[in-house]
Amino acid sequence: MVKSLQSTTTLHNGVKMPWFGLGVFKVEDGEEVVNSVKTAIEAGYRSIDTAAIYRNEEGVGKGIAEANVPREELFITSKLWNSNQGYDETLAAFDETMEKLGLDYLDLYLIHWPTPELGKYVETWKAFEKLYKDGRIRAIGVSNFQIHHLEDIMAECDIVPMVNQVEYHPRLTQGELHEFCKKHNIQLEAWSPLMQGQLLDNPTLEEIANKYNKSTAQIILRWDLQKEVVTIPKSVKPHRIKENANIFDFELSAEDMEKINGLNEDKRVGRNPDEFNVY
Ligand SMILES: NC(=O)c1ccc[n+]([C@@H]2O[C@H](COP(=O)([O-])OP(=O)(O)OC[C@H]3O[C@@H](n4cnc5c(N)ncnc54)[C@H](OP(=O)(O)O)[C@@H]3O)[C@@H](O)[C@H]2O)c1
Repeated sequence: MVKSLQSTTTLHNGVKMPWFGLGVFKVEDGEEVVNSVKTAIEAGYRSIDTAAIYRNEEGVGKGIAEANVPREELFITSKLWNSNQGYDETLAAFDETMEKLGLDYLDLYLIHWPTPELGKYVETWKAFEKLYKDGRIRAIGVSNFQIHHLEDIMAECDIVPMVNQVEYHPRLTQGELHEFCKKHNIQLEAWSPLMQGQLLDNPTLEEIANKYNKSTAQIILRWDLQKEVVTIPKSVKPHRIKENANIFDFELSAEDMEKINGLNEDKRVGRNPDEFNVY
């Protein structure tokens, strides 16, 4: 059972990653992201998820610097954007990310999308392996990878990704992919865990929420943890940042877990990774 906001999962290389973090997609660079990051860290969050394409890495770095928590207690993730895939391009893009964040090492770096049309994710992964072996990143992973993309990497490279961050919520439970990841010790991480707000008035979730005296957002986030999926809800509102993290004082019953599992419709809010080739 995940006991607190600072509880961690151990990745296959031994690095400890918090089960819970803050997402900052669509959070404006500058004051908005600085305040969100600071509020979250002050509320006890230790993990922040950004990406080059969010164009707020500078603000994330500033929020971290102002939050007054030792760097080694934090777990910072960023992602390589599609247009920077390729060996040399990845090394250059990583330097740029680090300069913007103002950090001297990263905890987790992810290939943002496989972008199959480009055909470069294997070569890109080799650059990730170099950065990892050089000690510049504590853990490396992928995002939006389907089983066959993971298999390509595992067949052609040395290091199995430590994390796969994918769209995951009660309408998209990714059963087969989750089983594959468990089998290969790849930690699954949920993006858009709240389905970008679309599930918060679902009657099944409302009924469960009333029973535990929690909000529907808290029920979904607790369900993530009991499914052993790392979760990174986004909010720019201080009261929601705190509310979302207040999920460590209750446990969903097996029956309620099943009810939530039953909401799956294999429905995405985001793009299908096999078809997303924007760069
Ligand atoms: N790897 C990828 O391709 C990928 C794709 C998408 C997202 N992500 C990552 O995953 C993170 C989370 O996903 P997301 O931002 O798409 O969506 P999300 O976390 O599912 O939902 C965020 C939305 O829900 C609202 N919200 C948050 N907490 C709430 C609460 N307690 N009650 C009511 N509304 C609430 C937020 O509004 P307010 O801000 O106004 O509170 C925002 O509109 C992102 O920020 C990003 O870091 C990764």
